[in-house]
Amino acid sequence: MKKIGILTSGGDAPGMNAAIRAVVRKAIFHDMEVYGIYNGYQGLMEGNIKQLEIGSVGDIIQRGGTILYSARSEEFKTEAGQEKAIEQLNKFGIEGLIVIGGDGSFQGAVKLTQKGYPCIGVPGTIDNDITGTDFTIGFDTALNTIIDAIDKIRDTATSHERTYVIEVMGRDAGDLALWAGLADGAESILIPEKPHDFNMVIDRLKKGQERGKKHSIIVLAEGVGKGMDLGSKIQEATDMETRVTVLGHIQRGGRPTGFDRVLASRLGAKAVDLLLEGKAGRMVGIENNQLVDHDITHVLTSKHEVDMDMVNLANQLSI
Ligand code: F6P
Repeated sequence: MKKIGILTSGGDAPGMNAAIRAVVRKAIFHDMEVYGIYNGYQGLMEGNIKQLEIGSVGDIIQRGGTILYSARSEEFKTEAGQEKAIEQLNKFGIEGLIVIGGDGSFQGAVKLTQKGYPCIGVPGTIDNDITGTDFTIGFDTALNTIIDAIDKIRDTATSHERTYVIEVMGRDAGDLALWAGLADGAESILIPEKPHDFNMVIDRLKKGQERGKKHSIIVLAEGVGKGMDLGSKIQEATDMETRVTVLGHIQRGGRPTGFDRVLASRLGAKAVDLLLEGKAGRMVGIENNQLVDHDITHVLTSKHEVDMDMVNLANQLSI
């Protein structure tokens, strides 16, 4: 294989640039040409493709976002869209494609692989909701952004003796909420994977109040419901002065942590190795600090499980 393409797709995640850099440099190290596909699958269909050199990826390892931009494309989900993409790949002589993104992005990679284009997936999403890898690129940075924000909120929560509901990202996945809640000593953590009992949230708050606790933090994953609604319900049920902070897209930006930069570099380089070995339709991942690869179709059909031991631990520590 002499010419490969790379694209980022879906929600961006800090560390995607470090992965792009690793793919480009590893491929050039092996005398391959690398083509950057801009704006995800949309850009692929439109032929928004340029060759990347060693210098094209200089000074990006520390930057959040993605230099290749990202998009969610409806057209690419159609047969006609996929044919257009293949025409462009043929035009540029691209023989294999590396896709950095989450499950939506991997569905595209599966389609192209089925049509004869070897694709390798690199898990990049702040949600950490992909099976076959202990961590996805961007999760650690987003987690630390949340922790930083909650630490700041805790200062004002303490000063004003208030209860705070913090809504974090995660439509279907609770890892960000769970890890941040555990790291921040939240009183309650509400995640989509585990049905929650509103009365328990209130009980915990009241028990804390009886012990003389003056402020509380509740972390809510967006997939469970709206922070504003939960905040009003808590205020009504307890009469505690309650405020709500929705962290929003701030969680997707910022300089990647050292962990994400190293993870992205390792996964990006491994993806190139797989293409060189003639593999297709695989996703690279990390398990017990070892690089692994799995069938992407299997990754897409199995659901990421939240760590119930961590859920229980968080409950036990926030008594
Ligand atoms: O998948 C990553 C993610 O940040 C989710 O946590 C969030 O629900 C979603 O993307 C937001 O997407 P958008 O940027 O399209 O609003």
